[in-house]
Formats: sequence, structure tokens, C-alpha cells
Amino acid sequence: MQAFRSAILRFADDQSAVYEQDGLLVIGPDARGRQVVHAVGDYHSLAPAYPGLAVEHLPGRIIAPGFIDLHIHFPQTDLIGSPAAGLLPWLEQYTFPHESRFSENAHAQELAIFFLDELLRHGVTTALAFASSHPPSVNALMAEAQRRGLRLIAGKVLQDRHSPDGVRDETEQSLVDSEDLIRKWHGVDRLGYAITPRYAPSCSEAQLLGAGELAARYPEVWIQSHVAENLEEVKWARELFPASRSYLAIYDDFGLMRERAIYAHCIHFDDEDRAMMRATGAAAAVSPTSNLFLGSGFFDYEGAQRAGFKYGLASDVGGGTSFSPFHTMLAAYYVGREGRSKPGLSLSPQHLWWQHTAGAAQALGLQGVIGNLQPGCEADFIVLDPGATPLLARRTASAGTLAELLFALIVLGDDRVIQEVSISKNTEEVRS
Ligand code: GUN
Ligand code: ZN
Repeated sequence: MQAFRSAILRFADDQSAVYEQDGLLVIGPDARGRQVVHAVGDYHSLAPAYPGLAVEHLPGRIIAPGFIDLHIHFPQTDLIGSPAAGLLPWLEQYTFPHESRFSENAHAQELAIFFLDELLRHGVTTALAFASSHPPSVNALMAEAQRRGLRLIAGKVLQDRHSPDGVRDETEQSLVDSEDLIRKWHGVDRLGYAITPRYAPSCSEAQLLGAGELAARYPEVWIQSHVAENLEEVKWARELFPASRSYLAIYDDFGLMRERAIYAHCIHFDDEDRAMMRATGAAAAVSPTSNLFLGSGFFDYEGAQRAGFKYGLASDVGGGTSFSPFHTMLAAYYVGREGRSKPGLSLSPQHLWWQHTAGAAQALGLQGVIGNLQPGCEADFIVLDPGATPLLARRTASAGTLAELLFALIVLGDDRVIQEVSISKNTEEVRS
């Protein structure tokens, strides 16, 4: 067992933040040897229950759950900040040429190391990631995550049409490859597989049908795609699938809407789409820096809350402009401010933080497993330094409430705030 004394941030089941100014976090192995939160609470109330246990004291620091990035593209790391008129030209000019390089093993392996280093440097301990359409890109990312003991979910992109040579895959083979990758990686250590149709316009009916059949055969596997991001894209999807009621309904028509299905963007929705998200248990990966950068639009928080569907925060690198959850939370705040509902929402910092931790875990169906520090959760946590920069030190020192403290971190914070990242170990492996 290990114990840490510092301020501790976690979340209650009702999404509210629980904050111990002087807290104790005790972690230890569960029945399978996986390091989990054993106990957490006020230091003075809890410490007497653990006589003799060495406690690492971290004065002035905050322990918080590791962040979860609900949608990110591993092969787009090197194209962050590539401007284009909008989504479709951006895909043609930058994304497809970059992703075509991921058929090369060495390139995929080199970038997998950099990508996971970068996530961890920013305090992100779990991601739901797109690889490229080439199976070696999945193998490289999974192998590197496994080596580090990370909980990571990823998948091979499906795109058998409207895609250039170099990234376009072949219908039958793409489905065989996806199933092979599920068998190889899903449920191995802390890894999960996601069936990954790029978006409806890049997939033939046969490919979507095959993806839906795989999803039915492997209900524990995740599904990830894009939907209703950009108005031109929406128009194109509707033209390609005229029988479907809406862009989102295409995925439902092919059996791709269910629990553990995560759709990035979800901007240009109507209330029937929102009701379908809620009814099927699918979740939205809100990607505010990407949507602002590519001019895609604003996620409608008020509409999502009214319909009661699940959502969480995502970087969407490389459309997104930063790996930093602080930058993403701040952009989400701006989106709430300027979004569809007038006069605009003022999302609380606790809710922004929840969307990137416990809320994202709930979207993945992994509540109680990651994204929180309640007893039983896997011990993926970060240690924050609220005085990491001179301005942060001044601002956080004068914060009178939890909301002020979290807002100061969201507005002024970045990777400099992340002092330490701790990943849950398999203690059986450590021993053997
Ligand atoms: N739609 C289809 N592919 C992509 C992608 O790579 N990024 C974004 N933002 N949208 C997409
Ligand atoms: Zn994306």
C-alpha cells in the first residue's frame, strides 16, 4: 500500500466535485493485483486507520484523477495548426497525406512513443484514439501503451471510398484486419479496441454493414467515428445516404449506435438526433479547440443537457490545437458562452473538469474504473502544482473558493502545472 497527503480533487456520482484541502489517498492492489484507490478522504479522519503506513506528503499540491481524452488522432500529431478553409479541404490537403506515412512500421513506432509521452506530459492517462487505416499503426500504438501499462483504446480507421491512394483500404480486408486486431488487443492488459469508421462519407455501405456486424459480435468493443461536424460534410453525408433520416441516423441504420459508441463533434444536430443519442446510450466527444480552429461550429451544451445524452471532452488533435486538457476545458467554456443558447451558458469549472475525467469515463462506460479517485478506481492520478508559474501562484493563492481555484488552473494552466503522473501498476507483474 502507498499513501499520499495533499489536497485531493474527485467527483461524486451526481457529478459534483469533492475537494479535500488536506486529504489522504491510499492506494493498494485489488484482488487481481491491480493498483486501485483503497481509501480517500480527509487526512485527519482517515490517517488513524493506517498506523505505520508511510505517507508521502505533498504540501501545496493537488492530487486529481488523470485526464481522459475522448477523441484524438495519433497519426495527426505532426499536423497540429495546419489551417484550411474548412474540414473537407483540411482532410485532403494535410490529413490524408500525413496519415499515408503510417503504413511504415518505423514511422508509426517512433510517433507512438512521442504521442504517448506527450499525452502523459499533459496529464492525460487514457485516450480513445484513431490510428490510421494501416494495421501497423494500431500495433505500434497498442504495443507502446502496453509497455507503459496504460489504459488506452484505439482502432484502425475504416475508409474504403472518397479517400486517396495511400490511405484508402479495401472493404473485405479492412473488416478482416479489424477483427484480427480486436482478437489481438481487446482486453489485453489495459487495452481496448474501437471499431473505427472514419465517417460515413468515407465508408461504403458494405463497409458500414460489416462494421455494424462486428459491433454486434463484440459488444464489449468500442465504436468511434465523426458526425455532424461541418455543414458541407453534413450535406454530403445526406446525399450519399438519402434513405437515412439524418447524418447521425446513418450510423443507427448500420447498427453503430449503442453504449460504448463515441461520436466526435455532434454539432449540427436536431432534437431527434439528440433523443437518439440518449436512447441508444451513445456519447459525444466534444472537441472545442478543433471546432473553433476549423470553423466547424459550437457544440450545443444546453441541447445536450436537455436531451440527457452523455458527453465528455476531447482534444481532437490534429484538428484540435493542443494536447492540454486545460486548453480544451477553456475552449469548452468559450463554446458554452458563445454557443447556440442565448445569452449563453457559464459552465462551471467543476463541470468542465468533470467532462475531462469522470464524465469522459462515463461516456466510455468506464465509470468507477478510471477518471475518478473514489475507492475501487484504478490508481491513475496526477499531481498538480498550482504555483507552477508566477501568475498562477499569485492567482491561486488568492482563490477563495474551489470554483476560483479550478478556474484559475483552467484559464492559466498548461503542462507546467502537471508535476507528476502516476499510472496504476499491476502489482502481480511487479512482484514476478
Ligand atoms: N472527419 C473525418 N475524418 C476526420 C478527421 O480526421 N478529423 C476531423 N476533425 N474530422 C474528421
Ligand atoms: Zn477527429
